[in-house]
Amino acid sequence: MVVCLSAVAEAQDVRRVYQEYCASCHGPNLEGGLGGNLVDDVWKHGADDENIARVIRDGLPDAGMPGFGATLNDAQVRSLVVYILEMGTRAAMQRRDFNRPTPTTVSRREAHAFKLEVITDELEVPWSIAFLPDGRMLVTERAGRLRVIDKDKLLPDPIRGTPEVWARGQGGLLAVAVHPAYRENGWVYLAYSDPGAGGTAMTAIVRGRIRAGRWADEEAVFRIPESLYKRGGVHFGCRMVFHDGYLFFTHGERGAQDDAQDLTRPNGKVHRLHDDGRVPEDNPFANEADAFRSIWSYGNRNPQGLAWRPGTDELWETEHGPRGGDELNLIRAGRNYGWPVITYGMNYNGTPITGLTAKDGMEQPVIHWTPSIAVGDMAFYDGKAFPKWKGNLFVTALAAEEVRRLVLEGDRVTHQEILFKGIGRVRSIAVGPDGFIYLGLENPGRIVRLVSAE
Ligand code: HEC
Repeated sequence: MVVCLSAVAEAQDVRRVYQEYCASCHGPNLEGGLGGNLVDDVWKHGADDENIARVIRDGLPDAGMPGFGATLNDAQVRSLVVYILEMGTRAAMQRRDFNRPTPTTVSRREAHAFKLEVITDELEVPWSIAFLPDGRMLVTERAGRLRVIDKDKLLPDPIRGTPEVWARGQGGLLAVAVHPAYRENGWVYLAYSDPGAGGTAMTAIVRGRIRAGRWADEEAVFRIPESLYKRGGVHFGCRMVFHDGYLFFTHGERGAQDDAQDLTRPNGKVHRLHDDGRVPEDNPFANEADAFRSIWSYGNRNPQGLAWRPGTDELWETEHGPRGGDELNLIRAGRNYGWPVITYGMNYNGTPITGLTAKDGMEQPVIHWTPSIAVGDMAFYDGKAFPKWKGNLFVTALAAEEVRRLVLEGDRVTHQEILFKGIGRVRSIAVGPDGFIYLGLENPGRIVRLVSAE
């Protein structure tokens, strides 16, 4: 049985499908032959996903390309589209010379010039950054430490007494957030992978106060019954933002993709709570029998960024797709974001997930990145140091090692600029009180900031 299934998987592997049906005309490396070059970014018959899929399905009888709609199913066609775009991006990366900033160079980009300053390079996977009103910076290290940076100096000792975390795979100490009324109440929120029985773990949130270098007054904000905890080290989430007295946070689907559609499960969702952990009575599923009452949206795969757009009532989210189909979403109460019923991606091993990229009753992403950049954290820019970046959305990328600037008009993305690339996975981003952009990078774990160089 197992042999049988893996044989099916192999036959469906997109590289094999390509080699079997396409390579004879388009070349083993997509470089072209009888058929055109598929990686030169020249598209005679339409560059977008929909047109590429149409050509594969229907063929181009006049030009001599047969249609494959009868041989390949929609999911296989979709995976070929992802594969062609992946190979095209790889080829484009080799052609282009990207901006790789160093502390001694000035990066002149479209709207502003900046320099990159390294504040510390002594951290291990700096997962999240938050600022206290006095300017001190809190940084979580995924390994389980809450660190403080005071006047650009990393304090040698982590905060003592923070929760024990399940630091394996993608799990560990995740987001840190500071209550908007911190000056009055002193609350700091921590999201982390909470160890359960038998090697399981799930995302939990606590709040506490920092007193003389210690974590004090801890209260649980979000902790689910241990019977719902899961094994495996992927897709914990978790980002947190405050808005109007509520705490919004993301919870990855923990690798159990069908749970994202299951309202009785907390994973694969965006949630809303009061700041003390109570469930708001007007949450979209608060009155539905069996539903997880804190759910705000569902069908979310592995959200890594969450932010309110300044001056609006809009909650935005970034989420990792599988192989292809990383998403930028505008999150609305009660809506279904589709995973895994619809997606622009395929499985990591090249086998298809589904041919469906859209369906009634399911939300479309504002944009998707196919191939994946492994989209990470996000922040809207509302500082003063870079006036022409005001209102822009900045997103980070892990695998692609990028920071991107997105220009928005209404709820559309009209332009993307890669600010820099190739100096490490960019895990976290925050706009500082000084208006500079602070980033957490990996290998080595650094906190850097972009300062104006005009
Ligand atoms: C018998 C040869 C042949 C085979 C097999 C074939 N193609 Fe093509 N393909 C062509 C030709 C010819 C064109 C048209 C090129 C042109 O217009 O210059 C084309 C065009 C395309 C285009 C559009 C390119 C553009 O510039 O817009 C895509 C995408 C494409 N093929 C994908 C595939 C895929 C995927 C497969 C395998 C499932 C495949 N082809 C198999 C011959 C072939």
